[in-house]
Amino acid sequence: MDELKTRLEVLIDPTLGMSLKDSQGIKHLAIDENDDLVTLIIAMGQLGGDKEKTLRREIARVVKLDCGHKGLRLQMEESKIYASITKKDITFIGIISGKGGVGKSSVAANIAYALTRKGKKVGLIDADIYGSSIPTILEVPHSKPVYNENKKIIPLFKDKIQLISTELFTEPGQPVLWRGGLLNSMLNHFFYDIAWDDDTDFVIIDYPPGTGDITLDIKNIVPQAKMILVTTPHPSASHVAVKAGTAAKTLGHEIIGVIENMSYYVNPVNFEHENIFGYGGGKQVAEELETELLAKLEISQPKHHNDIFEDDEYNDKLYNKIAETLINIRNN
Ligand SMILES: Nc1ncnc2c1ncn2[C@@H]1O[C@H](COP(=O)(O)OP(=O)(O)O)[C@@H](O)[C@H]1O
Ligand SMILES: [Mg+2]
Repeated sequence: MDELKTRLEVLIDPTLGMSLKDSQGIKHLAIDENDDLVTLIIAMGQLGGDKEKTLRREIARVVKLDCGHKGLRLQMEESKIYASITKKDITFIGIISGKGGVGKSSVAANIAYALTRKGKKVGLIDADIYGSSIPTILEVPHSKPVYNENKKIIPLFKDKIQLISTELFTEPGQPVLWRGGLLNSMLNHFFYDIAWDDDTDFVIIDYPPGTGDITLDIKNIVPQAKMILVTTPHPSASHVAVKAGTAAKTLGHEIIGVIENMSYYVNPVNFEHENIFGYGGGKQVAEELETELLAKLEISQPKHHNDIFEDDEYNDKLYNKIAETLINIRNN
Protein backbone atom coordinates (compact mmCIF):
# COMPACT_ATOMS: atom_id res chain seq x y z
CA MET A 1 0.00 0.00 0.00
CA ASP A 2 2.76 2.45 0.98
CA GLU A 3 4.75 1.65 -2.13
CA LEU A 4 1.70 2.08 -4.32
CA LYS A 5 0.93 5.41 -2.70
CA THR A 6 4.51 6.63 -3.12
CA ARG A 7 4.49 5.65 -6.78
CA LEU A 8 1.14 7.34 -7.40
CA GLU A 9 2.21 10.51 -5.63
CA VAL A 10 4.95 11.26 -8.15
CA LEU A 11 2.59 11.10 -11.11
CA ILE A 12 2.04 14.51 -12.66
CA ASP A 13 -1.43 15.92 -13.12
CA PRO A 14 -0.97 17.40 -16.62
CA THR A 15 -3.73 19.98 -16.15
CA LEU A 16 -2.02 21.46 -13.09
CA GLY A 17 1.56 20.63 -14.01
CA MET A 18 2.13 19.37 -10.50
CA SER A 19 2.49 16.00 -8.79
CA LEU A 20 -0.49 14.28 -7.20
CA LYS A 21 1.35 14.71 -3.92
CA ASP A 22 1.54 18.49 -4.25
CA SER A 23 -2.00 18.80 -5.54
CA GLN A 24 -3.25 16.44 -2.81
CA GLY A 25 -4.88 14.56 -5.67
CA ILE A 26 -5.11 11.10 -4.02
CA LYS A 27 -8.48 11.36 -2.33
CA HIS A 28 -9.04 7.70 -1.53
CA LEU A 29 -6.90 4.59 -1.80
CA ALA A 30 -7.96 1.12 -0.67
CA ILE A 31 -6.90 -2.40 -1.54
CA ASP A 32 -9.31 -5.31 -1.27
CA GLU A 33 -6.97 -8.15 -0.31
CA ASN A 34 -9.38 -10.95 -1.32
CA ASP A 35 -9.55 -10.21 -5.02
CA ASP A 36 -6.54 -7.86 -5.14
CA LEU A 37 -8.68 -4.94 -6.26
CA VAL A 38 -7.39 -1.37 -5.89
CA THR A 39 -10.01 1.34 -5.45
CA LEU A 40 -8.85 4.88 -6.13
CA ILE A 41 -10.42 8.31 -6.18
CA ILE A 42 -8.15 10.82 -7.88
CA ALA A 43 -8.78 14.55 -8.14
CA MET A 44 -7.26 16.38 -11.08
CA GLY A 45 -7.37 20.02 -12.21
CA GLN A 46 -9.70 19.57 -15.14
CA LEU A 47 -11.51 16.47 -16.28
CA GLY A 48 -11.89 15.26 -19.84
CA GLY A 49 -9.77 15.21 -22.96
CA ASP A 50 -6.39 13.68 -23.63
CA LYS A 51 -4.97 14.87 -20.33
CA GLU A 52 -7.41 12.80 -18.29
CA LYS A 53 -6.75 9.80 -20.55
CA THR A 54 -3.00 10.20 -20.06
CA LEU A 55 -3.32 10.35 -16.29
CA ARG A 56 -5.69 7.36 -16.21
CA ARG A 57 -3.22 5.36 -18.29
CA GLU A 58 -0.33 6.28 -16.00
CA ILE A 59 -2.33 5.32 -12.91
CA ALA A 60 -3.25 1.94 -14.43
CA ARG A 61 0.39 1.33 -15.31
CA VAL A 62 1.51 2.01 -11.74
CA VAL A 63 -1.23 -0.10 -10.16
CA LYS A 64 -1.08 -3.07 -12.48
CA LEU A 65 2.39 -3.20 -14.03
CA ASP A 66 4.62 -1.56 -11.42
CA CYS A 67 2.85 -2.86 -8.31
CA GLY A 68 1.30 -6.02 -9.80
CA HIS A 69 -2.27 -5.64 -8.56
CA LYS A 70 -4.94 -7.51 -10.48
CA GLY A 71 -7.85 -5.10 -10.59
CA LEU A 72 -8.36 -1.33 -10.54
CA ARG A 73 -11.51 0.61 -9.90
CA LEU A 74 -10.70 4.25 -10.68
CA GLN A 75 -12.88 7.26 -10.16
CA MET A 76 -11.73 10.71 -11.29
CA GLU A 77 -13.07 13.97 -9.90
CA GLU A 78 -12.31 17.64 -10.30
CA SER A 79 -9.85 19.12 -7.84
CA LYS A 80 -11.26 21.72 -5.48
CA ILE A 81 -7.84 23.26 -5.15
CA TYR A 82 -7.81 24.16 -8.80
CA ALA A 83 -11.36 25.42 -8.77
CA SER A 84 -10.63 27.69 -5.84
CA ILE A 85 -8.15 29.74 -7.81
CA THR A 86 -9.45 29.48 -11.35
CA LYS A 87 -13.21 29.60 -10.94
CA LYS A 88 -13.05 33.00 -9.32
CA ASP A 89 -12.09 34.55 -12.64
CA ILE A 90 -9.05 36.29 -11.26
CA THR A 91 -6.48 37.72 -13.67
CA PHE A 92 -3.03 36.82 -12.34
CA ILE A 93 -0.23 39.23 -13.21
CA GLY A 94 3.34 38.21 -12.33
CA ILE A 95 6.03 40.85 -11.87
CA ILE A 96 9.42 39.35 -12.73
CA SER A 97 13.00 40.54 -13.12
CA GLY A 98 16.42 39.16 -13.92
CA LYS A 99 17.97 40.44 -10.72
CA GLY A 100 17.04 42.05 -7.43
CA GLY A 101 17.08 45.75 -6.69
CA VAL A 102 15.57 46.87 -10.00
CA GLY A 103 12.29 47.93 -8.38
CA LYS A 104 10.19 44.81 -8.91
CA SER A 105 8.41 45.07 -5.56
CA SER A 106 7.81 48.82 -5.90
CA VAL A 107 6.36 48.22 -9.36
CA ALA A 108 4.12 45.40 -8.09
CA ALA A 109 2.79 47.59 -5.28
CA ASN A 110 2.28 50.67 -7.46
CA ILE A 111 0.41 48.64 -10.08
CA ALA A 112 -1.83 47.29 -7.31
CA TYR A 113 -2.58 50.85 -6.19
CA ALA A 114 -3.19 52.10 -9.73
CA LEU A 115 -5.70 49.28 -10.37
CA THR A 116 -7.39 49.91 -7.03
CA ARG A 117 -7.83 53.59 -7.84
CA LYS A 118 -9.56 52.54 -11.04
CA GLY A 119 -12.10 50.66 -8.97
CA LYS A 120 -10.67 47.16 -9.36
CA LYS A 121 -10.45 44.74 -6.47
CA VAL A 122 -6.84 43.68 -6.16
CA GLY A 123 -4.83 41.08 -4.29
CA LEU A 124 -1.06 41.29 -3.90
CA ILE A 125 1.05 38.22 -3.21
CA ASP A 126 4.57 38.75 -1.98
CA ALA A 127 6.10 35.54 -3.32
CA ASP A 128 9.68 36.76 -3.14
CA ILE A 129 10.23 34.34 -0.29
CA TYR A 130 13.83 35.31 0.44
CA GLY A 131 13.52 39.02 -0.26
CA SER A 132 10.08 39.78 1.05
CA SER A 133 9.50 43.54 1.11
CA ILE A 134 5.90 44.24 0.19
CA PRO A 135 4.66 44.68 3.80
CA THR A 136 7.35 47.35 4.29
CA ILE A 137 6.45 49.04 1.02
CA LEU A 138 2.78 49.08 2.00
CA GLU A 139 3.73 50.14 5.51
CA VAL A 140 1.80 47.24 7.05
CA PRO A 141 2.87 46.19 10.56
CA HIS A 142 3.87 42.56 11.16
CA SER A 143 1.03 40.31 12.23
CA LYS A 144 0.23 36.60 12.48
CA PRO A 145 -1.91 34.99 9.79
CA VAL A 146 -5.64 34.81 10.53
CA TYR A 147 -7.73 31.89 9.24
CA ASN A 148 -11.43 31.70 8.44
CA GLU A 149 -13.71 28.78 9.32
CA ASN A 150 -12.60 26.88 6.19
CA LYS A 151 -8.96 27.17 7.29
CA LYS A 152 -8.23 29.65 4.51
CA ILE A 153 -5.89 32.56 5.21
CA ILE A 154 -7.65 35.90 5.41
CA PRO A 155 -5.50 38.47 3.61
CA LEU A 156 -4.41 41.63 5.35
CA PHE A 157 -6.06 44.74 4.02
CA LYS A 158 -4.27 47.99 3.29
CA ASP A 159 -5.98 50.75 1.33
CA LYS A 160 -8.46 48.19 -0.06
CA ILE A 161 -5.61 45.96 -1.31
CA GLN A 162 -5.68 42.36 -0.10
CA LEU A 163 -2.17 41.39 0.90
CA ILE A 164 -0.49 38.03 1.44
CA SER A 165 3.18 37.76 2.31
CA THR A 166 5.66 35.20 3.58
CA GLU A 167 6.41 37.69 6.30
CA LEU A 168 3.12 36.62 7.89
CA PHE A 169 4.69 33.24 8.55
CA THR A 170 7.99 34.35 10.00
CA GLU A 171 9.08 36.15 13.11
CA PRO A 172 9.78 39.88 12.64
CA GLY A 173 13.29 40.50 11.37
CA GLN A 174 14.10 36.80 11.01
CA PRO A 175 15.43 35.42 7.73
CA VAL A 176 13.50 32.71 5.91
CA LEU A 177 15.26 29.36 6.05
CA TRP A 178 12.72 27.08 4.41
CA ARG A 179 14.02 24.47 2.07
CA GLY A 180 12.62 22.10 -0.52
CA GLY A 181 9.42 20.39 0.53
CA LEU A 182 8.53 22.89 3.20
CA LEU A 183 8.97 25.75 0.77
CA ASN A 184 6.86 23.97 -1.79
CA SER A 185 4.01 23.34 0.62
CA MET A 186 4.34 26.93 1.76
CA LEU A 187 3.85 28.12 -1.81
CA ASN A 188 0.87 25.84 -2.28
CA HIS A 189 -0.59 27.23 0.90
CA PHE A 190 -0.01 30.71 -0.42
CA PHE A 191 -1.79 30.25 -3.66
CA TYR A 192 -4.60 27.85 -2.85
CA ASP A 193 -5.54 28.59 0.70
CA ILE A 194 -6.30 32.26 0.48
CA ALA A 195 -9.78 33.61 1.06
CA TRP A 196 -9.67 36.25 -1.69
CA ASP A 197 -12.83 38.33 -1.88
CA ASP A 198 -15.20 36.76 -4.39
CA ASP A 199 -15.16 39.71 -6.73
CA THR A 200 -11.36 40.01 -6.86
CA ASP A 201 -10.33 41.15 -10.35
CA PHE A 202 -6.55 40.98 -10.23
CA VAL A 203 -3.90 39.25 -8.18
CA ILE A 204 -0.45 40.77 -8.62
CA ILE A 205 2.41 38.42 -7.76
CA ASP A 206 5.80 39.79 -6.77
CA TYR A 207 8.04 36.94 -7.98
CA PRO A 208 11.52 36.19 -6.71
CA PRO A 209 14.15 37.61 -9.07
CA GLY A 210 15.74 35.39 -11.69
CA THR A 211 14.76 31.99 -12.99
CA GLY A 212 15.23 29.79 -9.91
CA ASP A 213 13.31 26.92 -8.37
CA ILE A 214 10.66 29.07 -6.77
CA THR A 215 9.79 30.62 -10.11
CA LEU A 216 9.35 27.14 -11.56
CA ASP A 217 7.19 26.07 -8.63
CA ILE A 218 4.94 29.09 -9.03
CA LYS A 219 4.61 28.23 -12.69
CA ASN A 220 3.15 24.92 -11.61
CA ILE A 221 0.73 26.60 -9.29
CA VAL A 222 -0.41 29.55 -11.40
CA PRO A 223 0.16 28.43 -14.99
CA GLN A 224 -2.10 31.15 -16.34
CA ALA A 225 -0.16 34.14 -14.92
CA LYS A 226 0.76 36.80 -17.45
CA MET A 227 4.08 38.51 -16.89
CA ILE A 228 5.48 42.02 -16.69
CA LEU A 229 9.26 42.18 -16.76
CA VAL A 230 11.07 44.92 -14.85
CA THR A 231 14.58 46.04 -15.73
CA THR A 232 16.79 49.09 -15.32
CA PRO A 233 18.31 50.71 -18.43
CA HIS A 234 21.76 49.28 -17.70
CA PRO A 235 23.07 46.55 -20.05
CA SER A 236 23.99 44.26 -17.13
CA ALA A 237 20.41 44.39 -15.85
CA SER A 238 18.80 44.11 -19.26
CA HIS A 239 20.99 41.13 -20.12
CA VAL A 240 19.68 39.06 -17.20
CA ALA A 241 16.18 40.43 -17.76
CA VAL A 242 16.17 38.87 -21.23
CA LYS A 243 17.13 35.55 -19.64
CA ALA A 244 14.28 35.77 -17.11
CA GLY A 245 11.83 36.78 -19.83
CA THR A 246 12.93 33.93 -22.08
CA ALA A 247 12.55 31.49 -19.20
CA ALA A 248 9.00 32.74 -18.53
CA LYS A 249 8.14 32.41 -22.22
CA THR A 250 9.60 28.91 -22.35
CA LEU A 251 7.41 27.97 -19.39
CA GLY A 252 4.42 29.10 -21.43
CA HIS A 253 3.67 32.46 -19.84
CA GLU A 254 2.53 35.38 -21.93
CA ILE A 255 4.74 38.45 -21.51
CA ILE A 256 2.56 41.56 -21.39
CA GLY A 257 5.51 43.92 -21.66
CA VAL A 258 8.61 45.45 -20.14
CA ILE A 259 8.87 48.27 -17.61
CA GLU A 260 12.14 50.17 -17.57
CA ASN A 261 12.53 51.44 -14.03
CA MET A 262 15.01 54.09 -12.87
CA SER A 263 15.25 55.20 -16.51
CA TYR A 264 16.58 58.69 -15.87
CA TYR A 265 16.80 61.41 -13.29
CA VAL A 266 15.34 64.84 -14.00
CA ASN A 267 17.94 67.35 -12.95
CA PRO A 268 16.03 69.88 -10.80
CA VAL A 269 18.27 72.73 -11.92
CA ASN A 270 18.01 72.49 -15.69
CA PHE A 271 15.30 69.79 -16.06
CA GLU A 272 17.54 67.68 -18.26
CA HIS A 273 17.15 63.91 -18.22
CA GLU A 274 20.30 62.35 -16.83
CA ASN A 275 20.81 58.69 -17.66
CA ILE A 276 22.41 57.73 -14.37
CA PHE A 277 21.89 53.99 -14.79
CA GLY A 278 22.65 53.76 -18.50
CA TYR A 279 20.36 53.95 -21.48
CA GLY A 280 18.16 51.79 -23.66
CA GLY A 281 17.93 48.55 -21.65
CA GLY A 282 14.13 48.44 -21.57
CA LYS A 283 13.72 48.95 -25.30
CA GLN A 284 16.34 46.35 -26.05
CA VAL A 285 14.72 43.76 -23.75
CA ALA A 286 11.29 44.43 -25.25
CA GLU A 287 12.68 43.96 -28.77
CA GLU A 288 14.50 40.76 -27.92
CA LEU A 289 11.40 39.28 -26.31
CA GLU A 290 9.15 40.64 -29.06
CA THR A 291 6.97 42.49 -26.63
CA GLU A 292 6.12 46.09 -25.74
CA LEU A 293 7.97 48.65 -23.65
CA LEU A 294 5.12 49.66 -21.34
CA ALA A 295 6.78 52.54 -19.50
CA LYS A 296 10.01 54.30 -18.63
CA LEU A 297 9.74 55.27 -14.97
CA GLU A 298 11.89 58.11 -13.71
CA ILE A 299 14.12 57.95 -10.66
CA SER A 300 12.19 59.71 -7.97
CA GLN A 301 11.34 59.54 -4.32
CA PRO A 302 7.55 59.46 -3.93
CA LYS A 303 6.34 62.66 -2.27
CA HIS A 304 3.71 61.22 0.06
CA HIS A 305 4.81 57.67 0.93
CA ASN A 306 7.92 55.51 1.09
CA ASP A 307 7.36 53.80 -2.25
CA ILE A 308 3.89 54.58 -3.58
CA PHE A 309 3.34 57.36 -6.09
CA GLU A 310 0.19 59.45 -6.17
CA ASP A 311 -1.76 61.32 -8.79
CA ASP A 312 0.32 64.47 -8.81
CA GLU A 313 3.51 62.60 -9.73
CA TYR A 314 4.87 61.71 -13.16
CA ASN A 315 5.48 58.01 -12.43
CA ASP A 316 1.90 57.67 -11.31
CA LYS A 317 0.65 58.78 -14.73
CA LEU A 318 2.62 55.90 -16.19
CA TYR A 319 1.22 53.45 -13.62
CA ASN A 320 -2.27 54.59 -14.56
CA LYS A 321 -1.54 53.81 -18.20
CA ILE A 322 -0.22 50.37 -17.24
CA ALA A 323 -3.36 49.76 -15.17
CA GLU A 324 -5.51 50.62 -18.22
CA THR A 325 -3.54 48.16 -20.33
CA LEU A 326 -4.13 45.43 -17.72
CA ILE A 327 -7.84 46.20 -17.50
CA ASN A 328 -8.08 45.93 -21.31
CA ILE A 329 -6.30 42.58 -21.20
CA ARG A 330 -8.73 41.35 -18.54
CA ASN A 331 -11.76 42.55 -20.50
CA ASN A 332 -10.69 40.93 -23.76
N1 LIG B 1 11.79 54.69 -9.76
C1 LIG B 1 12.47 54.68 -8.63
N2 LIG B 1 13.07 55.81 -8.19
C2 LIG B 1 13.77 55.81 -7.03
N3 LIG B 1 13.94 54.73 -6.23
C3 LIG B 1 13.37 53.58 -6.62
C4 LIG B 1 12.60 53.49 -7.83
N4 LIG B 1 12.15 52.22 -7.95
C5 LIG B 1 12.63 51.55 -6.86
N5 LIG B 1 13.34 52.36 -6.07
C6 LIG B 1 14.03 52.00 -4.81
O1 LIG B 1 15.00 51.01 -5.12
C7 LIG B 1 15.09 50.05 -4.09
C8 LIG B 1 14.83 48.64 -4.66
O2 LIG B 1 13.46 48.56 -5.08
P1 LIG B 1 12.61 47.24 -4.86
O3 LIG B 1 11.26 47.53 -5.38
O4 LIG B 1 12.74 46.75 -3.47
O5 LIG B 1 13.39 46.28 -5.88
P2 LIG B 1 13.32 44.69 -6.06
O6 LIG B 1 12.00 44.24 -5.58
O7 LIG B 1 13.51 44.51 -7.53
O8 LIG B 1 14.47 44.13 -5.29
C9 LIG B 1 14.09 50.44 -3.04
O9 LIG B 1 14.75 51.13 -2.03
C10 LIG B 1 13.13 51.36 -3.78
O10 LIG B 1 12.55 52.31 -2.94
MG1 LIG C 1 11.54 42.93 -4.02
